[in-house]
Amino acid sequence: MPSNVVAIYPGSFDPITNGHRDIIERGHKLVGRLIVGVLRNEAKQPLFSVEERVEMLREVVRPYSNVEVTSFNGLLVHFATQQGATVIFRGIRAISDYEHELQMALMNRRLQPRIETVFLMAGEQYSFVSSRLVKEVIRLDGNISGLVPPLVEDRLRKKVKGDV
Ligand code: PNS
Repeated sequence: MPSNVVAIYPGSFDPITNGHRDIIERGHKLVGRLIVGVLRNEAKQPLFSVEERVEMLREVVRPYSNVEVTSFNGLLVHFATQQGATVIFRGIRAISDYEHELQMALMNRRLQPRIETVFLMAGEQYSFVSSRLVKEVIRLDGNISGLVPPLVEDRLRKKVKGDV
């Protein structure tokens, strides 16, 4: 891809996992600028506020000078257009992700044909990792080390204990 390409990596990131981090690591090398977009969607009853999620993501992407993190409301393609992005990155883990991702990619293409969705595959060691499962395991006092960045593991432990 040309180095002036701007890409959006959208998601809920409640919280960021090592699978997400791996997609950012792979994606940022392909484009000039990568914007991680956190959806503001209170209907989903997130564990972390948007501000907390953005803060954790910013910490994780600190090593990458062409990656920034911001939140957005409304349609993804409107946000992407505002940011001058022509590419949307999404991670695909298993075939089970494909159907929903295909629907979203085709809907987004219909809404804005100039924006292309590009699917990236995280490392196979993360193929079973999701924010939802990580939250479930930590709530039940299971071990999640290696599945999320260390700072996220700390924040998760404090959150489920009610310390923050
Ligand atoms: O991490 P997630 O929850 O799978 O991310 C889903 C996300 C944020 C990419 C998707 O819900 C989204 O783009 N929402 C914004 C609203 C929108 O544009 N809807 C139409 C997309 S087909």
